[in-house]
Amino acid sequence: MAHVTFNSLRSFSFLYSLHSLYNATTLRHFHFKSNQIQPSHPPHMAAPATSDQSNPLITPYKMGKFNLSHRVVLAPLTRQRSYNNVPQPHAVLYYSQRASNGGLLIAEATGVSDTAQGYPNTPGIWTKEQVEAWKPIVDAVHAKGGIFFSQIWHVGRVSNSAYQPNGQAPVSSTDKPLSPQIRSNGIDQVHHTPPRRLSTDDIPRIVDDFRLAARNAMEAGFDGVEIHGAHGYLLEQFMKDKVNDRTDEYGGSLENRCRFPLEVVEAVVNEIGADRVGIRLSPFAEYAECGDSNPKQLGLYMVNALNKSGILYCHMVEPRIGSVAENVECHHSLVPMRKAFNGSFIGAGGYDREDGMKAIAENRADLVAYGRWFLANPDLPKRFALNAPLNKYNRETFYDSDPVLGYTDYPFLDEVSNGV
Ligand SMILES: Cc1cc2nc3c(=O)[nH]c(=O)nc-3n(C[C@H](O)[C@H](O)[C@H](O)COP(=O)(O)O)c2cc1C
Repeated sequence: MAHVTFNSLRSFSFLYSLHSLYNATTLRHFHFKSNQIQPSHPPHMAAPATSDQSNPLITPYKMGKFNLSHRVVLAPLTRQRSYNNVPQPHAVLYYSQRASNGGLLIAEATGVSDTAQGYPNTPGIWTKEQVEAWKPIVDAVHAKGGIFFSQIWHVGRVSNSAYQPNGQAPVSSTDKPLSPQIRSNGIDQVHHTPPRRLSTDDIPRIVDDFRLAARNAMEAGFDGVEIHGAHGYLLEQFMKDKVNDRTDEYGGSLENRCRFPLEVVEAVVNEIGADRVGIRLSPFAEYAECGDSNPKQLGLYMVNALNKSGILYCHMVEPRIGSVAENVECHHSLVPMRKAFNGSFIGAGGYDREDGMKAIAENRADLVAYGRWFLANPDLPKRFALNAPLNKYNRETFYDSDPVLGYTDYPFLDEVSNGV
């Protein structure tokens, strides 16, 4: 099996994280004509200079013990600028730019152990050095009154032996490899190392890695953790029946397939308390060849089980963010899961301002997470409050490793209006 180069994995991560998103949603909503996106009505009718209380996105919300001043959440966004898996000082500026008083930020996916990684320069939270490196970043968000959750992940088979300790195979629910993926240039292929199927006895160790990562996140000062149970990574590799081919108590029935993710939730809840725990799920998505034959049933099973643990929030990705080739039109909806879940519900995926306002007004979500728009607009809540134009995002720099480019160099609204 060929080793994956830095560049090919970067493109691969682009392929998985983004290619489908572009096809799926963005082009539907906006015309890219200049550096800025025009709002849905002309600038001369633009919004008031102060926050508009008739905008449901800009209304307070109490999420457990956290008093949020608005509903615009920073979605977790992998940035690949944490060299050697250690968060860097430049992340202080990046996250504090996006912090607002009473605003919820979810940090980029962060590895729970040295077997959890699958991309270059993504951060971890399993060593003392990593925990110490997170501290000033968290402090900077808190200094601006922000609420900051760490998204903790394990990529499972979406990895390569080059990212694994001692060059070992990545681990998964299965030993089925991912098929070679076509890079975004449409020509080259990317290979992942075939995974090693975790034995039944191995699983408690991985559960414990999540528990320790959650404890470390508390030590770093985060307000809570979001368990990454989405997008084809390890937890989904157990949950979804197109990947999980196990015959032990972690495979087969829905109950068995959800056992590992729910054990992770239980361990994290026991460690830091349910009032600090969220989870991200994408039952309808098919990233990394990770699909389920009955995603609605899976989503409902999970939220009902999560109700028993009493976790703070469930963050669910819209069905319209499906897979690379999927059409944007989708008859599925998150509403059944939203209705069944007792905690706070965050919707994400393909939202613009109007969509988000509507979702809150129609009670389809308590909060809306924005990925690409927040990446390109550090003051997104303010822009939504004012109905101001948005900076266009540059996908070419999403996964750049530069400490500034496409990271902390997107202008704030006042810089734009002052011609800076
Ligand atoms: C550059 C980039 C990195 C991402 N990294 C993560 C991640 O670390 N964890 C995660 O759960 N989702 C990740 N996503 C998905 C986003 O959180 C979000 O769900 C997706 O961009 C769709 O929302 P949007 O239409 O508002 O951008 C990423 C997306 C992008 C564009």
